[in-house]
Amino acid sequence: MKKVIAIDGPSGAGKSTVSREVAKALGFQYLDTGALYRAVAYYLLKKFNHINDFLSLNEQEIEKEIKNIKIHYKNGRVFLSDEDVSDLIRDPKVGEITSQISMLKVVRDFLLPIQRNFAKEANIVAEGRDMTTVVFPDAWKKFYLDASTEIRAKRRFEQLIKSGKNITFEEALKDVIERDKKDSLREISPLRISSDAFYIDTSELTLQEVVSIVLKKVAEDA
Ligand code: DC
Repeated sequence: MKKVIAIDGPSGAGKSTVSREVAKALGFQYLDTGALYRAVAYYLLKKFNHINDFLSLNEQEIEKEIKNIKIHYKNGRVFLSDEDVSDLIRDPKVGEITSQISMLKVVRDFLLPIQRNFAKEANIVAEGRDMTTVVFPDAWKKFYLDASTEIRAKRRFEQLIKSGKNITFEEALKDVIERDKKDSLREISPLRISSDAFYIDTSELTLQEVVSIVLKKVAEDA
């Protein structure tokens, strides 16, 4: 296994921007595991009229559907077969379905080897909800990024508005609260702070300051 910098935290804590910048500074590959979960959700959303049509299948059928998914990830872009779905998966509707399907063991089991394979080929900065605990428990460095609920909702709101989505701050806040609940209360691989992860509260920091803290910590312990 190559070097893995594992970064976990709730949505809106700044993981994507920080991970991308840290990867760039160190010459590591960036792995956005949320994009993989989102791509699975997008695939299912396109295939089934309603997500309940998928969720009501029996276990074998669900497994068969998931196994058929041809997912690829390269240089921060995610593909279903040959289609680049990186922008399409950012739709809030896809995010909502993602938090539902990421609770399924069959989905997590499907994505586990795909995520681990990246660390066989290159040094990576991997971000998600269970990088430090389940996917890369022996990671070279571990970080947990956090921020207050309001700040995370504000960041999500601004990000969605910037990308042309029609959303109010209240909707963004509700979305963040709901997502937190689902991510941390689920039975399999819930979001939790690993005891050996370096905790950073990013509420009062700029993302550039967080990048500097991470890089300093990595250099200190290297
Ligand atoms: O980081 P994100 O917002 O793109 O993640 C989308 C959803 O995927 C979120 O509800 C949590 C889930 N997820 C997960 O369960 N495990 C991961 N390693 C990454 C994301």
